[in-house]
Amino acid sequence: DAGKSGYEHYMLKEIQEQPRALRKCLRGRVDEIEGRVSLDLDLDRSGVDSTHLVACGTSYHAALYGAQLLRAQGIPAQTFLANEYDETCLAGERPLVVGVTQSGETADTLGALRTAQAAGAETLAVTNTIGSSAARECDHALFVRAGPEIGVAATKTFASQQTALHLLALWLGGGDVDPGHIAALRAIPEQVQSILDDDSAREVAAELADSAAYFFIGRGPQHPVALEGALKLKEISYEHAEGFAAGELKHGPLALVTPETPIIAMVTGYDERARKTVGNVKEVQARGAPVVAVTDGKADVEQYAQHVLTVPETTPEIAALLANVQLQLLAYWIARDMGRPIDKPRNLAKSVTVE
Ligand code: G6P
Repeated sequence: DAGKSGYEHYMLKEIQEQPRALRKCLRGRVDEIEGRVSLDLDLDRSGVDSTHLVACGTSYHAALYGAQLLRAQGIPAQTFLANEYDETCLAGERPLVVGVTQSGETADTLGALRTAQAAGAETLAVTNTIGSSAARECDHALFVRAGPEIGVAATKTFASQQTALHLLALWLGGGDVDPGHIAALRAIPEQVQSILDDDSAREVAAELADSAAYFFIGRGPQHPVALEGALKLKEISYEHAEGFAAGELKHGPLALVTPETPIIAMVTGYDERARKTVGNVKEVQARGAPVVAVTDGKADVEQYAQHVLTVPETTPEIAALLANVQLQLLAYWIARDMGRPIDKPRNLAKSVTVE
């Protein structure tokens, strides 16, 4: 218990450690004066024509997020569940294959990386664990520097993976970054801290008790966060939770929506995506579902929501990191109110070393 520093669970301690972890992830990699991102990677970035990201679980959600950032830099990027990756995925391509793995020991991810190597692809591990199998076996390694994570449910390592992949995308894109983007990156740790200082998620969790199921929706960079928010909640509370792309609601999931199924909607910024997601929020509200809006207030979604979880204003991509922190807290307090064994959920392991 000493390792919990007074927290009831490692998970809450690790959630609270995020500002520090993210500072470490950014340290020495973002040059404010030069406006550059630099990574200590001995990789010929001019030779990278396309990328494949392979991962499992929470790391897969970070990979989905990272792929969007890579594509925004003009670098083709596809994401694969590591356990679905085989040589046919590499047909006709010579991508840089990026294994995203906290532990660096997940058998499925190591298997995918070995498949890539056997096909002659260059490999990069994005991992939290120095000396891990992934770090040793890949041609290159980028460390996310989150520090040890004990709770089975990944929290700080996800935020650190998001940030490391953000930096990787900028670096592969040439490394020159405009001052506003640099400032937004550097503000992440204190913006996360401001969310941690807010008690709203705990209050909302109490209000949502005894729901039949929980659905998370988001678009663009908030889509992987919707998936991750649902995964976190199901892992530690054992409640039924699903994440959807907001635009997919009308293609099926809407049939599940009732007054007993809260919808947790990520609506940040005020762009086309946010406006469309507000439309989705109106649809579920019309069907009586309670809405929890995770928002920076720019899209005026509050008027359609029963509950609001606030995030500070930033870029659309970083907003998806901040929203996830609110979702971590929400999952934690729902599971805590239910008395679940949060750090060691039934049937789950921190690292799955069998295929
Ligand atoms: C297990 C853990 C998850 C983790 C996944 C991938 O399922 O319970 O939290 O996301 O493995 O682990 P990795 O170490 O490869 O990121």
